[in-house]
Amino acid sequence: MSEIAATFEKYAAQIKEARELRALDDIRVAALGKKGEVSKMMQGLGKMSIDEKKVMGPALNGLKKDIASLIETRKEALENEALDAALASETMDMSLPVGAKAGTLHPVSQVMEEMAVIFSDMGFSAAEGPDIEDDFHNFTALNFPKGHPARDMHDTFFMTPDSEGEQKVLRTHTSPVQIRTMIKDKPPIRIIAPGRTYRCDSDQTHTPMFHQVEGLVIDKGIHMGHLKGVLMDFMSAFFETDVDVQFRPHHFPFTEPSAEMDVRYERVGSAIKIGQGEKWMEILGCGMVHPNVLRACGLDPDEYQGFAFGMGVDRLAMLKYGMPDLRDMFAADTRWLGHYGFNPLLQANLATGLS
Ligand code: PHE
Repeated sequence: MSEIAATFEKYAAQIKEARELRALDDIRVAALGKKGEVSKMMQGLGKMSIDEKKVMGPALNGLKKDIASLIETRKEALENEALDAALASETMDMSLPVGAKAGTLHPVSQVMEEMAVIFSDMGFSAAEGPDIEDDFHNFTALNFPKGHPARDMHDTFFMTPDSEGEQKVLRTHTSPVQIRTMIKDKPPIRIIAPGRTYRCDSDQTHTPMFHQVEGLVIDKGIHMGHLKGVLMDFMSAFFETDVDVQFRPHHFPFTEPSAEMDVRYERVGSAIKIGQGEKWMEILGCGMVHPNVLRACGLDPDEYQGFAFGMGVDRLAMLKYGMPDLRDMFAADTRWLGHYGFNPLLQANLATGLS
């Protein structure tokens, strides 16, 4: 057998035996690599006579090609085997019931979903902003002048100043998203901004991290009547019953006039019933967007007006679903989640009921 034929037979046998891509590659290197056997044989061509070269040149090239093609074929076969094995071992039985072991949706997520459903039905879209906010968006543009006592009102968490001395904050409310939206978008604006907010506060009804949903409407000819209508409709839709509300004068630097909205409630045993009753519970802050805020965002207050509101999601979740202590919400206790959580497969919607 010629040397060429013997070399081919040797590698053909090895390639056939190769069980893994790694081993196959080792064979490739041994035969065809720069210092491989076939390459060395080819280097021998230089010392041959012209006649010998004429025969051996094409023969060696053929050998190289044949080995390369065997390797390629084997490689494909091995890759297919690996894929089949993966498919066989990673199958999922789609017919398995989700059943009792399914996770549950956290009440805060559920309530945010419910709010989004109600507001999107009224034509609002959702906007977002960062949790770590700068002084301009969290305070200055919202008409909190520098050194104004209203800044202390929020028990702010301050970040360490950066190399330029700028000190960011964990946003104390979702109102900075008002600013970001008014700077970015042209009126008419109709957004809600759900998100996390932070204040240095902790007791039965306060946690250092909590959730708000902000609302903002900017257009021509917007007035308090629009604000009241939207919020009254929202409350009845959210609590899925007629809810009586009242607006009390209040102060926020970024709205004028400002109000807090209360809902009627009564205690029945240890439970709180929202909607009717002799008592009032504060639910949210709201007001007409202050002209200074509009100006800070490049809007002319003589042309555009608007209203804004901000409500605590966790508080509303507690009231709607009867959870006694706000702090439990963020304790990550799976027993609590099992009890108060929601079926993640049931999407909140207005047609069949929110919850
Ligand atoms: N940002 C206010 C707060 O967190 C709530 C609010 C929002 C009030 C929008 C008026 C308008 O207390």
